[in-house]
Amino acid sequence: MSVRKQTIDGLDVFEAVIEGETITWDTSLTYSSHLQTEKLLSAQEPVSDKPDEMLFIIMHQSMELWMKLVLHEAEQLMADMRADHIARACKTLERIETVLRHMTHSWEVLATLTPHDFVTFRGFLKRASGMQSHQFRELEFRLGLKRPDMLVIHEHDQAAQQSLQAALDAPSVYDELLHLMARQGHGIPDALLTRDYAVLYTPDPAVEDAWLAIYRDPDQHRALYQLGERFSALEYYFQEWRFKHMKTIARVIGQKPGTGGSAGADYLARTLDLTFFPELLSMRSRISPATGSEAGGCPFQGGD
Ligand code: HEM
Repeated sequence: MSVRKQTIDGLDVFEAVIEGETITWDTSLTYSSHLQTEKLLSAQEPVSDKPDEMLFIIMHQSMELWMKLVLHEAEQLMADMRADHIARACKTLERIETVLRHMTHSWEVLATLTPHDFVTFRGFLKRASGMQSHQFRELEFRLGLKRPDMLVIHEHDQAAQQSLQAALDAPSVYDELLHLMARQGHGIPDALLTRDYAVLYTPDPAVEDAWLAIYRDPDQHRALYQLGERFSALEYYFQEWRFKHMKTIARVIGQKPGTGGSAGADYLARTLDLTFFPELLSMRSRISPATGSEAGGCPFQGGD
């Protein structure tokens, strides 16, 4: 097969006809040099000689890559909100949600690991645990779940601790959303806008009232209503990831403790009660669109 040199649009390229298709390539930037596939594909180093460990490694690594993308998109989301560009923020959120749904779906692959497969290499993992994923913790911090105690786990890794500290000190996406609501005249207390971002956010009745007003009249507040729904979906899909992790690993290790020393599936089950955007959830029990009142009750009943 002959390979010819060509110049196309000022770029020197190689050209060959393969099965009737004219294929061109440029060695200054190739698929593998751009995507660093050599580095990526040499990063799987099992600590055992057990064949099922490869699945375990690739599952974690692919989740870490998706988390990297979510963190990247979260930065874009912050910029969108700071610019009061709600439509763009909704688009960014849609991408984040889709990545989370994809991550959740990928637990199906791990579910092919039987309890027997796992015990063949579990001992080799020593105390290594997903608890030590600094990207996961950063994601929690960026979304609004500020738990400074978690930093101690990363004391051995200065770079990780620094990026976690920066995420802890910065406003979360929910803080940024409250700022946006304040700019749009939704009565967010000043104390929340100037709060210490490094501490866990405490739900506030004024914020719940602001969300309730938006959700009671979606036509009047269409953009913020849609943004609120996207944030709710983000939390839902994140929690769905947690749920599927908990269920999948319970299938593999039952009620055994984790390699990180926690109670295992029970520890993960408790994380299902965590929330990033508390008033967006709590406000829902006060919505009654049929009557306009805050009481619950039968949606088909008329009257006030
Ligand atoms: C057989 C596979 C797996 C098992 C048995 C397992 C088990 C566990 C257990 C028991 C915990 C609680 C902490 C501990 O005591 O270790 C945990 C935490 C965690 N795991 Fe997994 N896991 C598995 C796969 C994965 C994968 C593929 C990921 C993807 C990144 C992951 C990410 C995490 C994260 C981020 C935490 C911390 C959760 C939190 O603190 O809320 N795990 N895992």
